[in-house]
Amino acid sequence: MKDILDKLEQRREEARLGGGKARIEAQHKRGKLTARERIELLLDKGSFEEFDMFVEHRSIDFGMEKTKVPGDGVVTGWGTVNGRTVYLFSKDFTVFGGSLSETHAQKIIKVQDMAMRARAPIIGLFDAGGARIQEGVAALGGYGEVFKRNVIASGVIPQISVIMGPCAGGDVYSPAMTDFIFMVRDTSYMFVTGPDVVKTVTNEVVTAEELGGASVHTTKSGVADGAFENDVECLLQMRRLIDFLPENNESGVPQWPSEDKGDREDASLDTLIPDNPNKPYDIKELIHKVADEGDFFEIGAAHAKNIVTGFGRISGRTTGFVANQPLVLAGVLDSAASRKAARFVRFCDAFNIPIVTFVDVPGFLPGTDQEYGGLIKHGAKLLFAYSQCTVPLVTVITRKAFGGAYDVMASKHVGGDLNYAWPTAQIAVMGAKGAVEIIFRGGTPEEIAARTKEYEDRFLSPFVAAERGYIDDVIMPHSTRRRLARALAMLRHKHVEMPSRKHDNLPV
Ligand code: HXC
Repeated sequence: MKDILDKLEQRREEARLGGGKARIEAQHKRGKLTARERIELLLDKGSFEEFDMFVEHRSIDFGMEKTKVPGDGVVTGWGTVNGRTVYLFSKDFTVFGGSLSETHAQKIIKVQDMAMRARAPIIGLFDAGGARIQEGVAALGGYGEVFKRNVIASGVIPQISVIMGPCAGGDVYSPAMTDFIFMVRDTSYMFVTGPDVVKTVTNEVVTAEELGGASVHTTKSGVADGAFENDVECLLQMRRLIDFLPENNESGVPQWPSEDKGDREDASLDTLIPDNPNKPYDIKELIHKVADEGDFFEIGAAHAKNIVTGFGRISGRTTGFVANQPLVLAGVLDSAASRKAARFVRFCDAFNIPIVTFVDVPGFLPGTDQEYGGLIKHGAKLLFAYSQCTVPLVTVITRKAFGGAYDVMASKHVGGDLNYAWPTAQIAVMGAKGAVEIIFRGGTPEEIAARTKEYEDRFLSPFVAAERGYIDDVIMPHSTRRRLARALAMLRHKHVEMPSRKHDNLPV
Protein backbone atom coordinates (compact mmCIF):
# COMPACT_ATOMS: atom_id res chain seq x y z
CA MET A 1 0.00 0.00 0.00
CA LYS A 2 2.77 2.41 0.95
CA ASP A 3 4.31 1.85 -2.50
CA ILE A 4 1.10 2.94 -4.16
CA LEU A 5 0.85 6.08 -2.02
CA ASP A 6 4.50 6.91 -2.71
CA LYS A 7 3.93 6.51 -6.45
CA LEU A 8 1.06 8.96 -6.32
CA GLU A 9 3.23 11.47 -4.47
CA GLN A 10 6.00 10.93 -7.00
CA ARG A 11 3.65 11.55 -9.93
CA ARG A 12 2.37 14.68 -8.23
CA GLU A 13 5.94 15.91 -7.65
CA GLU A 14 6.71 15.38 -11.31
CA ALA A 15 3.62 17.30 -12.39
CA ARG A 16 4.41 20.17 -10.02
CA LEU A 17 7.78 20.61 -11.72
CA GLY A 18 6.07 21.52 -15.02
CA GLY A 19 8.69 22.15 -17.71
CA GLY A 20 11.56 21.38 -15.31
CA LYS A 21 13.97 23.18 -13.00
CA ALA A 22 15.91 25.00 -15.74
CA ARG A 23 12.77 26.57 -17.20
CA ILE A 24 11.50 27.48 -13.72
CA GLU A 25 14.81 29.24 -13.08
CA ALA A 26 14.52 31.06 -16.40
CA GLN A 27 11.00 32.14 -15.40
CA HIS A 28 12.31 33.49 -12.07
CA LYS A 29 15.22 35.24 -13.81
CA ARG A 30 12.71 37.18 -15.89
CA GLY A 31 11.11 38.39 -12.67
CA LYS A 32 8.08 36.10 -13.09
CA LEU A 33 6.61 33.56 -10.70
CA THR A 34 5.54 30.10 -11.87
CA ALA A 35 1.91 29.16 -12.49
CA ARG A 36 1.67 27.39 -9.13
CA GLU A 37 3.45 30.11 -7.15
CA ARG A 38 0.94 32.59 -8.54
CA ILE A 39 -1.98 30.45 -7.42
CA GLU A 40 -0.51 30.22 -3.91
CA LEU A 41 -0.44 34.02 -3.69
CA LEU A 42 -3.88 34.60 -5.18
CA LEU A 43 -5.81 32.12 -3.06
CA ASP A 44 -6.28 31.70 0.68
CA LYS A 45 -3.49 29.57 2.11
CA GLY A 46 -4.10 25.85 1.58
CA SER A 47 -7.43 26.38 -0.21
CA PHE A 48 -6.37 25.34 -3.73
CA GLU A 49 -7.81 22.10 -5.11
CA GLU A 50 -6.31 21.13 -8.43
CA PHE A 51 -8.02 19.27 -11.27
CA ASP A 52 -6.49 17.36 -14.15
CA MET A 53 -2.92 17.39 -12.92
CA PHE A 54 -2.15 14.27 -14.95
CA VAL A 55 -3.68 15.32 -18.26
CA GLU A 56 -1.26 15.08 -21.20
CA HIS A 57 -1.54 16.14 -24.83
CA ARG A 58 -2.39 13.55 -27.47
CA SER A 59 -0.45 15.05 -30.36
CA ILE A 60 1.78 12.76 -32.44
CA ASP A 61 3.05 15.26 -35.03
CA PHE A 62 6.56 16.76 -35.08
CA GLY A 63 7.79 14.17 -32.56
CA MET A 64 5.43 15.53 -29.91
CA GLU A 65 4.60 12.00 -28.71
CA LYS A 66 8.08 11.98 -27.13
CA THR A 67 7.57 15.17 -25.10
CA LYS A 68 4.62 14.86 -22.80
CA VAL A 69 4.40 16.91 -19.63
CA PRO A 70 1.72 16.14 -17.03
CA GLY A 71 -0.72 19.05 -16.77
CA ASP A 72 0.01 20.12 -20.38
CA GLY A 73 0.87 23.74 -19.67
CA VAL A 74 -2.03 24.93 -17.54
CA VAL A 75 -2.86 24.49 -13.85
CA THR A 76 -6.61 24.50 -13.14
CA GLY A 77 -8.87 24.20 -10.12
CA TRP A 78 -10.67 26.16 -7.47
CA GLY A 79 -10.01 27.74 -4.08
CA THR A 80 -11.11 30.66 -1.98
CA VAL A 81 -10.27 34.35 -1.67
CA ASN A 82 -11.09 35.60 1.82
CA GLY A 83 -13.39 32.61 2.15
CA ARG A 84 -15.31 33.12 -1.13
CA THR A 85 -15.09 30.49 -3.89
CA VAL A 86 -13.31 31.26 -7.15
CA TYR A 87 -12.29 29.04 -10.08
CA LEU A 88 -9.07 29.61 -11.90
CA PHE A 89 -6.63 28.51 -14.55
CA SER A 90 -2.99 29.52 -14.58
CA LYS A 91 -0.92 29.10 -17.74
CA ASP A 92 2.44 27.42 -17.21
CA PHE A 93 4.98 29.11 -19.50
CA THR A 94 7.56 26.45 -18.64
CA VAL A 95 5.53 23.85 -20.59
CA PHE A 96 5.52 24.53 -24.35
CA GLY A 97 5.42 28.24 -23.56
CA GLY A 98 1.97 27.83 -21.97
CA SER A 99 0.61 27.28 -25.48
CA LEU A 100 -2.88 25.89 -25.90
CA SER A 101 -3.36 22.33 -27.17
CA GLU A 102 -6.61 20.41 -27.50
CA THR A 103 -6.25 18.86 -24.03
CA HIS A 104 -5.02 22.13 -22.48
CA ALA A 105 -8.21 23.74 -23.82
CA GLN A 106 -10.32 20.92 -22.36
CA LYS A 107 -8.88 21.66 -18.91
CA ILE A 108 -9.84 25.34 -19.19
CA ILE A 109 -13.29 24.47 -20.53
CA LYS A 110 -13.87 22.17 -17.55
CA VAL A 111 -13.25 24.96 -15.01
CA GLN A 112 -15.29 27.41 -17.09
CA ASP A 113 -18.22 24.97 -17.01
CA MET A 114 -17.80 24.30 -13.30
CA ALA A 115 -17.61 28.02 -12.50
CA MET A 116 -20.84 28.55 -14.39
CA ARG A 117 -22.59 25.64 -12.66
CA ALA A 118 -21.42 26.87 -9.25
CA ARG A 119 -22.07 30.52 -10.22
CA ALA A 120 -18.67 31.63 -8.94
CA PRO A 121 -16.10 34.03 -10.49
CA ILE A 122 -13.35 32.70 -12.75
CA ILE A 123 -9.83 34.11 -12.99
CA GLY A 124 -7.35 33.36 -15.78
CA LEU A 125 -3.64 33.96 -15.21
CA PHE A 126 -2.05 34.27 -18.66
CA ASP A 127 1.58 33.71 -19.64
CA ALA A 128 1.38 31.99 -22.98
CA GLY A 129 2.34 31.81 -26.64
CA GLY A 130 -1.11 31.26 -28.14
CA ALA A 131 -2.17 28.17 -30.10
CA ARG A 132 0.17 25.14 -29.81
CA ILE A 133 1.85 25.39 -33.18
CA GLN A 134 2.36 21.61 -33.47
CA GLU A 135 -1.39 20.95 -33.14
CA GLY A 136 -2.89 23.30 -35.70
CA VAL A 137 -6.65 23.23 -36.01
CA ALA A 138 -7.18 21.14 -32.85
CA ALA A 139 -5.79 24.10 -30.90
CA LEU A 140 -7.89 26.60 -32.85
CA GLY A 141 -11.00 24.55 -32.10
CA GLY A 142 -10.03 24.57 -28.42
CA TYR A 143 -9.83 28.36 -28.43
CA GLY A 144 -13.23 28.60 -30.07
CA GLU A 145 -14.74 26.51 -27.26
CA VAL A 146 -13.12 28.77 -24.64
CA PHE A 147 -14.32 31.95 -26.41
CA LYS A 148 -17.90 30.69 -26.65
CA ARG A 149 -17.94 29.97 -22.92
CA ASN A 150 -16.50 33.44 -22.16
CA VAL A 151 -19.47 34.92 -23.94
CA ILE A 152 -22.08 32.68 -22.33
CA ALA A 153 -20.66 33.47 -18.88
CA SER A 154 -20.57 37.22 -19.57
CA GLY A 155 -22.96 39.02 -17.23
CA VAL A 156 -23.55 35.81 -15.23
CA ILE A 157 -20.26 35.37 -13.33
CA PRO A 158 -17.39 37.87 -13.08
CA GLN A 159 -14.46 36.91 -15.33
CA ILE A 160 -11.02 38.40 -14.68
CA SER A 161 -7.93 38.05 -16.87
CA VAL A 162 -4.47 38.74 -15.52
CA ILE A 163 -1.70 39.05 -18.10
CA MET A 164 1.59 37.99 -16.52
CA GLY A 165 3.84 37.25 -19.48
CA PRO A 166 3.84 37.39 -23.27
CA CYS A 167 0.35 36.77 -24.64
CA ALA A 168 -0.34 36.34 -28.31
CA GLY A 169 -3.10 35.12 -30.62
CA GLY A 170 -5.89 33.27 -28.84
CA ASP A 171 -4.48 34.28 -25.48
CA VAL A 172 -5.53 37.87 -26.05
CA TYR A 173 -8.99 37.23 -27.48
CA SER A 174 -10.24 35.25 -24.52
CA PRO A 175 -9.19 38.02 -22.06
CA ALA A 176 -10.76 40.62 -24.35
CA MET A 177 -14.16 39.03 -23.78
CA THR A 178 -13.85 38.93 -20.00
CA ASP A 179 -14.84 41.73 -17.62
CA PHE A 180 -11.41 42.98 -16.57
CA ILE A 181 -7.84 42.73 -17.82
CA PHE A 182 -4.86 43.55 -15.61
CA MET A 183 -1.19 43.43 -16.59
CA VAL A 184 2.23 43.33 -14.94
CA ARG A 185 4.61 46.12 -15.96
CA ASP A 186 7.69 45.23 -18.05
CA THR A 187 7.05 41.46 -18.10
CA SER A 188 3.69 41.21 -19.88
CA TYR A 189 2.64 41.94 -23.46
CA MET A 190 -0.58 41.51 -25.38
CA PHE A 191 -0.80 41.51 -29.15
CA VAL A 192 -2.75 39.71 -31.83
CA THR A 193 0.47 39.33 -33.84
CA GLY A 194 3.96 39.83 -32.44
CA PRO A 195 6.76 42.19 -33.62
CA ASP A 196 8.16 39.64 -36.15
CA VAL A 197 4.84 39.26 -37.96
CA VAL A 198 4.30 43.02 -37.85
CA LYS A 199 7.69 43.52 -39.53
CA THR A 200 6.90 40.96 -42.25
CA VAL A 201 3.43 42.29 -43.05
CA THR A 202 3.75 46.05 -42.60
CA ASN A 203 7.54 46.55 -42.53
CA GLU A 204 7.04 48.37 -39.24
CA VAL A 205 9.82 47.87 -36.70
CA VAL A 206 8.48 47.86 -33.17
CA THR A 207 9.46 46.30 -29.84
CA ALA A 208 7.15 44.02 -27.87
CA GLU A 209 6.80 46.73 -25.21
CA GLU A 210 5.93 49.40 -27.80
CA LEU A 211 3.45 47.08 -29.49
CA GLY A 212 1.60 45.68 -26.51
CA GLY A 213 3.24 46.42 -23.17
CA ALA A 214 1.32 47.46 -20.07
CA SER A 215 2.10 51.13 -20.74
CA VAL A 216 0.39 50.94 -24.16
CA HIS A 217 -2.69 49.00 -23.06
CA THR A 218 -3.39 50.92 -19.87
CA THR A 219 -3.01 54.36 -21.47
CA LYS A 220 -3.43 54.46 -25.28
CA SER A 221 -5.58 51.48 -26.22
CA GLY A 222 -7.49 51.11 -22.95
CA VAL A 223 -7.49 47.32 -23.51
CA ALA A 224 -6.20 46.74 -19.96
CA ASP A 225 -7.87 48.11 -16.84
CA GLY A 226 -4.73 48.49 -14.79
CA ALA A 227 -1.10 47.45 -14.35
CA PHE A 228 1.04 46.57 -11.37
CA GLU A 229 4.78 46.56 -10.67
CA ASN A 230 5.28 42.80 -10.29
CA ASP A 231 3.48 39.46 -9.94
CA VAL A 232 3.17 39.72 -6.15
CA GLU A 233 1.61 43.18 -6.11
CA CYS A 234 -0.68 42.25 -8.98
CA LEU A 235 -2.04 39.11 -7.30
CA LEU A 236 -2.57 40.85 -3.96
CA GLN A 237 -4.51 43.58 -5.76
CA MET A 238 -6.62 40.92 -7.50
CA ARG A 239 -7.60 39.61 -4.06
CA ARG A 240 -8.66 43.15 -3.18
CA LEU A 241 -10.72 43.42 -6.38
CA ILE A 242 -12.44 40.06 -5.82
CA ASP A 243 -13.56 41.26 -2.38
CA PHE A 244 -15.60 43.96 -4.16
CA LEU A 245 -17.27 41.67 -6.69
CA PRO A 246 -20.50 39.72 -6.35
CA GLU A 247 -20.27 35.93 -6.92
CA ASN A 248 -22.75 36.15 -9.77
CA ASN A 249 -25.58 38.17 -11.29
CA GLU A 250 -28.12 36.96 -8.71
CA SER A 251 -26.08 36.88 -5.50
CA GLY A 252 -26.20 40.61 -4.75
CA VAL A 253 -23.12 42.51 -3.62
CA PRO A 254 -20.97 41.19 -0.77
CA GLN A 255 -21.50 42.75 2.65
CA TRP A 256 -18.28 43.31 4.63
CA PRO A 257 -18.13 44.58 8.21
CA SER A 258 -17.35 48.32 8.32
CA GLU A 259 -16.35 50.53 11.21
CA ASP A 260 -16.99 53.63 9.12
CA LYS A 261 -20.38 55.07 10.08
CA GLY A 262 -22.82 55.84 7.27
CA ASP A 263 -23.67 59.24 8.79
CA ARG A 264 -20.04 60.43 8.95
CA GLU A 265 -19.85 64.05 7.75
CA ASP A 266 -16.81 65.70 6.21
CA ALA A 267 -16.55 69.48 6.65
CA SER A 268 -13.62 69.73 4.21
CA LEU A 269 -16.01 68.95 1.33
CA ASP A 270 -17.66 72.35 1.83
CA THR A 271 -14.50 73.95 0.39
CA LEU A 272 -13.68 71.37 -2.28
CA ILE A 273 -15.09 73.49 -5.11
CA PRO A 274 -12.79 76.46 -5.88
CA ASP A 275 -14.32 79.97 -6.02
CA ASN A 276 -13.22 80.30 -9.62
CA PRO A 277 -15.49 78.00 -11.70
CA ASN A 278 -12.69 77.40 -14.20
CA LYS A 279 -10.25 76.15 -11.60
CA PRO A 280 -9.87 72.38 -11.39
CA TYR A 281 -10.03 70.19 -8.30
CA ASP A 282 -9.55 66.48 -7.77
CA ILE A 283 -12.82 64.55 -7.87
CA LYS A 284 -11.05 61.52 -6.41
CA GLU A 285 -10.83 63.47 -3.14
CA LEU A 286 -14.63 63.37 -3.00
CA ILE A 287 -14.75 59.64 -3.77
CA HIS A 288 -12.15 58.87 -1.10
CA LYS A 289 -14.02 60.99 1.43
CA VAL A 290 -17.41 59.35 0.92
CA ALA A 291 -16.31 55.71 0.49
CA ASP A 292 -15.96 53.42 3.52
CA GLU A 293 -12.49 53.88 5.02
CA GLY A 294 -11.48 55.78 1.85
CA ASP A 295 -11.03 52.43 0.09
CA PHE A 296 -11.39 52.82 -3.69
CA PHE A 297 -10.33 50.29 -6.36
CA GLU A 298 -9.95 52.27 -9.55
CA ILE A 299 -10.66 50.69 -12.94
CA GLY A 300 -8.87 52.18 -15.95
CA ALA A 301 -6.94 54.75 -13.88
CA ALA A 302 -4.42 55.62 -16.62
CA HIS A 303 -6.78 55.68 -19.62
CA ALA A 304 -9.28 58.48 -20.35
CA LYS A 305 -8.38 60.15 -17.07
CA ASN A 306 -11.09 62.75 -17.63
CA ILE A 307 -13.50 60.22 -16.17
CA VAL A 308 -12.92 58.16 -13.02
CA THR A 309 -14.47 54.72 -12.57
CA GLY A 310 -14.06 52.16 -9.81
CA PHE A 311 -15.40 50.31 -6.82
CA GLY A 312 -15.79 51.48 -3.26
CA ARG A 313 -18.15 50.56 -0.45
CA ILE A 314 -20.85 52.42 1.40
CA SER A 315 -22.14 50.83 4.62
CA GLY A 316 -20.00 47.78 3.81
CA ARG A 317 -21.66 47.15 0.43
CA THR A 318 -19.99 47.46 -2.97
CA THR A 319 -20.82 50.63 -4.89
CA GLY A 320 -19.67 51.60 -8.38
CA PHE A 321 -18.39 55.18 -8.67
CA VAL A 322 -18.37 57.13 -11.93
CA ALA A 323 -17.11 60.72 -11.82
CA ASN A 324 -16.02 63.39 -14.26
CA GLN A 325 -12.48 64.50 -13.39
CA PRO A 326 -12.07 68.32 -13.63
CA LEU A 327 -8.29 67.89 -13.31
CA VAL A 328 -8.05 66.39 -16.82
CA LEU A 329 -9.45 68.24 -19.86
CA ALA A 330 -11.82 69.99 -17.43
CA GLY A 331 -13.70 66.67 -17.10
CA VAL A 332 -15.04 66.85 -20.66
CA LEU A 333 -16.67 63.76 -22.19
CA ASP A 334 -14.79 62.48 -25.23
CA SER A 335 -14.95 59.16 -27.07
CA ALA A 336 -12.48 57.36 -24.81
CA ALA A 337 -14.11 58.56 -21.59
CA SER A 338 -17.57 57.62 -22.85
CA ARG A 339 -16.48 54.10 -23.80
CA LYS A 340 -14.60 53.57 -20.55
CA ALA A 341 -17.52 54.68 -18.39
CA ALA A 342 -20.11 52.82 -20.49
CA ARG A 343 -18.32 49.54 -20.02
CA PHE A 344 -18.05 50.10 -16.28
CA VAL A 345 -21.71 51.10 -15.93
CA ARG A 346 -22.77 47.97 -17.84
CA PHE A 347 -20.64 45.75 -15.59
CA CYS A 348 -22.26 47.27 -12.49
CA ASP A 349 -25.75 46.91 -13.92
CA ALA A 350 -25.15 43.29 -15.00
CA PHE A 351 -24.03 42.36 -11.48
CA ASN A 352 -26.51 44.47 -9.50
CA ILE A 353 -23.95 46.91 -8.15
CA PRO A 354 -25.54 50.31 -7.38
CA ILE A 355 -23.91 53.30 -9.06
CA VAL A 356 -23.04 56.68 -7.57
CA THR A 357 -22.28 59.32 -10.22
CA PHE A 358 -20.48 62.59 -9.47
CA VAL A 359 -21.03 65.15 -12.21
CA ASP A 360 -18.81 68.08 -13.16
CA VAL A 361 -18.83 68.11 -16.94
CA PRO A 362 -18.55 71.05 -19.36
CA GLY A 363 -20.02 68.99 -22.23
CA PHE A 364 -18.79 66.77 -25.04
CA LEU A 365 -15.39 67.56 -26.58
CA PRO A 366 -15.87 69.46 -29.87
CA GLY A 367 -13.66 69.06 -32.95
CA THR A 368 -12.94 67.07 -36.09
CA ASP A 369 -10.68 64.65 -34.27
CA GLN A 370 -13.55 63.55 -32.04
CA GLU A 371 -16.27 63.66 -34.70
CA TYR A 372 -14.18 61.64 -37.19
CA GLY A 373 -13.45 59.17 -34.42
CA GLY A 374 -17.16 58.51 -33.91
CA LEU A 375 -17.93 60.64 -30.85
CA ILE A 376 -21.64 60.36 -31.64
CA LYS A 377 -21.59 56.56 -31.36
CA HIS A 378 -19.17 56.49 -28.40
CA GLY A 379 -21.10 59.11 -26.45
CA ALA A 380 -24.26 57.15 -27.21
CA LYS A 381 -22.72 54.10 -25.54
CA LEU A 382 -22.63 55.88 -22.19
CA LEU A 383 -26.11 57.30 -22.67
CA PHE A 384 -27.34 53.83 -23.59
CA ALA A 385 -25.58 52.20 -20.66
CA TYR A 386 -27.11 54.53 -18.07
CA SER A 387 -30.55 54.46 -19.70
CA GLN A 388 -30.53 50.69 -19.58
CA CYS A 389 -29.65 50.44 -15.88
CA THR A 390 -32.05 48.83 -13.46
CA VAL A 391 -29.67 49.14 -10.49
CA PRO A 392 -29.99 52.04 -8.04
CA LEU A 393 -28.58 55.24 -9.55
CA VAL A 394 -27.72 58.09 -7.23
CA THR A 395 -26.28 61.22 -8.83
CA VAL A 396 -24.64 64.27 -7.29
CA ILE A 397 -23.89 67.31 -9.46
CA THR A 398 -20.99 69.10 -7.80
CA ARG A 399 -20.45 71.88 -10.35
CA LYS A 400 -21.01 71.95 -14.13
CA ALA A 401 -23.65 69.84 -15.86
CA PHE A 402 -23.84 71.34 -19.32
CA GLY A 403 -25.63 70.31 -22.47
CA GLY A 404 -26.09 66.70 -23.57
CA ALA A 405 -23.56 65.64 -20.97
CA TYR A 406 -26.08 66.69 -18.27
CA ASP A 407 -28.60 64.21 -19.70
CA VAL A 408 -26.04 61.46 -20.14
CA MET A 409 -24.54 61.50 -16.64
CA ALA A 410 -27.32 59.56 -14.88
CA SER A 411 -29.77 62.45 -14.98
CA LYS A 412 -33.32 62.05 -13.71
CA HIS A 413 -34.49 61.77 -17.31
CA VAL A 414 -32.50 58.62 -18.12
CA GLY A 415 -33.30 56.82 -14.89
CA GLY A 416 -31.56 58.53 -11.95
CA ASP A 417 -33.40 57.46 -8.78
CA LEU A 418 -32.09 60.24 -6.60
CA ASN A 419 -30.51 63.29 -8.16
CA TYR A 420 -28.79 65.66 -5.80
CA ALA A 421 -26.89 68.88 -6.46
CA TRP A 422 -24.45 70.80 -4.36
CA PRO A 423 -25.27 74.54 -4.03
CA THR A 424 -22.28 75.16 -6.36
CA ALA A 425 -23.97 73.25 -9.22
CA GLN A 426 -24.50 74.95 -12.58
CA ILE A 427 -27.03 73.18 -14.79
CA ALA A 428 -27.52 74.70 -18.23
CA VAL A 429 -27.29 74.12 -21.95
CA MET A 430 -23.81 75.62 -21.97
CA GLY A 431 -21.53 78.04 -20.09
CA ALA A 432 -22.74 81.67 -19.81
CA LYS A 433 -20.24 83.25 -22.19
CA GLY A 434 -20.86 80.80 -25.03
CA ALA A 435 -24.62 81.04 -24.56
CA VAL A 436 -24.71 84.85 -24.64
CA GLU A 437 -22.40 85.09 -27.65
CA ILE A 438 -24.86 82.96 -29.60
CA ILE A 439 -28.10 84.57 -28.43
CA PHE A 440 -26.78 88.15 -28.62
CA ARG A 441 -24.41 87.83 -31.56
CA GLY A 442 -23.03 91.26 -32.56
CA GLY A 443 -23.76 92.88 -29.19
CA THR A 444 -21.39 95.48 -27.77
CA PRO A 445 -18.91 94.27 -25.12
CA GLU A 446 -21.00 96.07 -22.46
CA GLU A 447 -24.21 94.35 -23.59
CA ILE A 448 -22.50 90.97 -23.69
CA ALA A 449 -21.11 91.49 -20.17
CA ALA A 450 -24.53 92.50 -18.81
CA ARG A 451 -26.31 89.60 -20.49
CA THR A 452 -23.66 87.15 -19.31
CA LYS A 453 -24.23 88.26 -15.74
CA GLU A 454 -28.00 87.89 -16.24
CA TYR A 455 -27.54 84.35 -17.69
CA GLU A 456 -25.26 83.35 -14.83
CA ASP A 457 -27.69 84.59 -12.19
CA ARG A 458 -30.67 82.89 -13.78
CA PHE A 459 -29.29 79.59 -15.06
CA LEU A 460 -25.96 78.82 -13.46
CA SER A 461 -27.37 77.40 -10.26
CA PRO A 462 -29.07 74.16 -9.27
CA PHE A 463 -32.38 75.89 -8.56
CA VAL A 464 -33.92 76.08 -12.05
CA ALA A 465 -33.57 72.28 -12.25
CA ALA A 466 -34.69 71.87 -8.62
CA GLU A 467 -37.81 73.98 -9.30
CA ARG A 468 -38.79 71.42 -11.93
CA GLY A 469 -38.03 68.39 -9.72
CA TYR A 470 -35.14 67.30 -11.96
CA ILE A 471 -33.02 67.67 -8.85
CA ASP A 472 -34.57 66.05 -5.78
CA ASP A 473 -32.65 68.15 -3.30
CA VAL A 474 -29.82 70.64 -3.04
CA ILE A 475 -27.53 69.18 -0.39
CA MET A 476 -24.67 70.38 1.77
CA PRO A 477 -21.36 68.98 0.49
CA HIS A 478 -20.35 67.87 4.01
CA SER A 479 -23.47 65.68 4.22
CA THR A 480 -22.82 63.80 0.97
CA ARG A 481 -21.82 60.44 2.48
CA ARG A 482 -24.80 60.44 4.81
CA ARG A 483 -27.19 61.27 1.95
CA LEU A 484 -25.68 58.57 -0.26
CA ALA A 485 -25.78 55.95 2.49
CA ARG A 486 -29.46 56.69 3.18
CA ALA A 487 -30.34 56.77 -0.52
CA LEU A 488 -28.66 53.43 -1.21
CA ALA A 489 -30.32 51.83 1.83
CA MET A 490 -33.70 53.12 0.69
CA LEU A 491 -33.12 51.79 -2.85
CA ARG A 492 -31.75 48.41 -1.77
CA HIS A 493 -34.70 46.46 -3.11
CA LYS A 494 -35.28 48.58 -6.20
CA HIS A 495 -37.00 46.51 -8.86
CA VAL A 496 -37.54 47.59 -12.44
CA GLU A 497 -38.83 45.41 -15.27
CA MET A 498 -37.60 46.06 -18.81
CA PRO A 499 -39.73 45.02 -21.79
CA SER A 500 -39.11 41.49 -23.07
CA ARG A 501 -36.67 41.30 -26.01
CA LYS A 502 -33.96 39.03 -27.32
CA HIS A 503 -31.25 41.55 -26.51
CA ASP A 504 -30.74 45.26 -27.02
CA ASN A 505 -28.65 46.76 -29.79
CA LEU A 506 -25.97 48.77 -27.99
CA PRO A 507 -24.28 51.22 -30.39
CA VAL A 508 -21.00 49.25 -30.47
C1 HXC B 1 4.30 25.64 -29.12
C2 HXC B 1 5.56 27.26 -28.12
C3 HXC B 1 4.66 28.27 -28.58
C4 HXC B 1 3.54 27.86 -29.34
C5 HXC B 1 6.22 29.23 -27.46
N1 HXC B 1 6.50 27.93 -27.44
N2 HXC B 1 5.10 29.47 -28.16
N3 HXC B 1 5.37 25.97 -28.39
N4 HXC B 1 3.40 26.54 -29.58
N5 HXC B 1 2.64 28.74 -29.77
C6 HXC B 1 7.64 27.26 -26.78
C7 HXC B 1 8.98 27.53 -27.43
O1 HXC B 1 9.21 26.58 -28.45
C8 HXC B 1 9.93 27.35 -26.26
O2 HXC B 1 10.12 25.97 -26.04
C9 HXC B 1 9.14 27.88 -25.09
O3 HXC B 1 7.76 27.83 -25.49
C10 HXC B 1 9.47 29.31 -24.74
O4 HXC B 1 9.42 30.09 -25.92
P1 HXC B 1 10.55 31.14 -26.31
O5 HXC B 1 10.27 31.57 -27.71
O6 HXC B 1 11.88 30.55 -26.00
O7 HXC B 1 10.28 32.31 -25.27
P2 HXC B 1 10.31 33.87 -25.50
O8 HXC B 1 11.58 34.26 -26.19
O9 HXC B 1 10.05 34.47 -24.16
O10 HXC B 1 9.11 34.23 -26.47
C11 HXC B 1 7.77 33.99 -26.07
C12 HXC B 1 6.81 34.19 -27.27
C13 HXC B 1 7.33 33.40 -28.48
C14 HXC B 1 6.76 35.70 -27.59
C15 HXC B 1 5.42 33.76 -26.82
O11 HXC B 1 7.58 32.03 -28.05
C16 HXC B 1 6.37 33.37 -29.61
O12 HXC B 1 6.31 34.32 -30.39
N6 HXC B 1 5.64 32.25 -29.76
C17 HXC B 1 4.73 32.08 -30.85
C18 HXC B 1 3.54 33.00 -30.70
C19 HXC B 1 2.50 32.75 -31.74
O13 HXC B 1 2.62 33.18 -32.90
N7 HXC B 1 1.47 31.90 -31.40
C20 HXC B 1 0.45 31.49 -32.28
C21 HXC B 1 -0.59 32.62 -32.30
S1 HXC B 1 -1.92 32.23 -33.33
P3 HXC B 1 11.43 25.39 -25.34
O14 HXC B 1 11.27 23.90 -25.47
O15 HXC B 1 12.58 25.96 -26.06
O16 HXC B 1 11.37 25.85 -23.91
C22 HXC B 1 -3.13 31.79 -32.30
C23 HXC B 1 -4.34 31.33 -33.00
C24 HXC B 1 -5.58 31.49 -32.20
O17 HXC B 1 -3.02 31.82 -31.13
C25 HXC B 1 -6.31 32.70 -32.65
C26 HXC B 1 -7.71 32.61 -32.22
C27 HXC B 1 -8.42 33.93 -32.50
